[in-house]
Amino acid sequence: MSGHDGFGSTGSSASSMPPLVRQPQPQQPDQQPEGEHLADTLPFRAREAQPVAQPVAQPAPVEAPVQEPEVVLGPTGRPMPELPEPGPRTTHGHARVISMCNQKGGVGKTTTTINLGASLAELGRKVLLVDFDPQGSLSVGLGLNPHQMDLTIYNLLMQRDVVLDEVVVPSGVPGMDLLPSNIDLSAAEVQLVHEVAREQTLSRVLAPALEQYDVILIDCQPSLGLLTVNALTASDGVIVPLECEYFALRGVALLKTTIDKVRERLNPRLEVDGVLGTMYDGRTLHGREVMERLVEAWGDTVFHTVIRRTVKFSDSTVAGEPITAYASSSPGAAAYRQLAKEVLVRCPDA
Ligand SMILES: Nc1ncnc2c1ncn2[C@@H]1O[C@H](COP(=O)(O)OP(=O)(O)O)[C@@H](O)[C@H]1O
Ligand SMILES: [Mg+2]
Repeated sequence: MSGHDGFGSTGSSASSMPPLVRQPQPQQPDQQPEGEHLADTLPFRAREAQPVAQPVAQPAPVEAPVQEPEVVLGPTGRPMPELPEPGPRTTHGHARVISMCNQKGGVGKTTTTINLGASLAELGRKVLLVDFDPQGSLSVGLGLNPHQMDLTIYNLLMQRDVVLDEVVVPSGVPGMDLLPSNIDLSAAEVQLVHEVAREQTLSRVLAPALEQYDVILIDCQPSLGLLTVNALTASDGVIVPLECEYFALRGVALLKTTIDKVRERLNPRLEVDGVLGTMYDGRTLHGREVMERLVEAWGDTVFHTVIRRTVKFSDSTVAGEPITAYASSSPGAAAYRQLAKEVLVRCPDA
């Protein structure tokens, strides 16, 4: 894969970017009346998205292009590419391992792991989800009781006589399995410090899964500690979910440094598969401005798909199901299905 192995082509970092200030807005001649905002769907037309597409500092365009055919812009302000329907897989294996990583909590890592995984499974991929957060939200989000787990990923990491197949459980979604975790995993972080090749422990225990699955998604904990370094060392790619809020960019420079260090010292194949805008609200100027900043900072690393804010995600967590099962025809489910197609375009090996 090319073009996604850094945080975008512009080379700017969060710390070097100008502060996110509210700019005087260009006149919006065709702004919709209040009620019509509710119909704001993805993707929308260029005409409606023009203020998003313009660099913040530039004045409004004097004239709209006259003879250009109308381009469909996605919510990131870039032309929305056609995402081909992925073909079926006849054989399985050679899994691509992808970590969901951001040391900030509450940005959508777990939600993305569950729903991207379920959407990839719908597309015929054999998927393994790895709960690598001692909070066990991924396991709970798939309906498991953290107090009733016989074996968890903790046992797999720390006990040499425990094998992968003993720990893997079905997720309730056809084609998708889960390596569960609970609070026991927090002890692993301390105990691993004394292990030989401590950063490669997860990589070692996941090795037998590579030939059984097409995609392995690791839900990282909100820190850049040894567990997350293990996840990055075991991965081919990283997806960085970022909440579309003003402070979303804080700390991302540090995350980038961690990824670069792991690539240099432990895992040269590690790439950034994409930055995913989550909890986006395209009806607010604020949401659109943050999205604009993400694209300014990371260019084409930002996925064209964005995940909008909706309470359906919390509801589906309570129900212990992915949104693709809980509210299959909801816009949130559609967004994750679109993300799955985009991931398969970027990672054709998955
Ligand atoms: N797009 C979204 N819109 C609204 N709520 C969301 C969205 N994505 C996630 N959430 C909710 O936000 C909370 C944090 O999300 P989660 O995926 O657990 O984040 P993380 O794993 O990064 O801590 C959860 O309650 C989840 O249901
Ligand atoms: Mg989480």
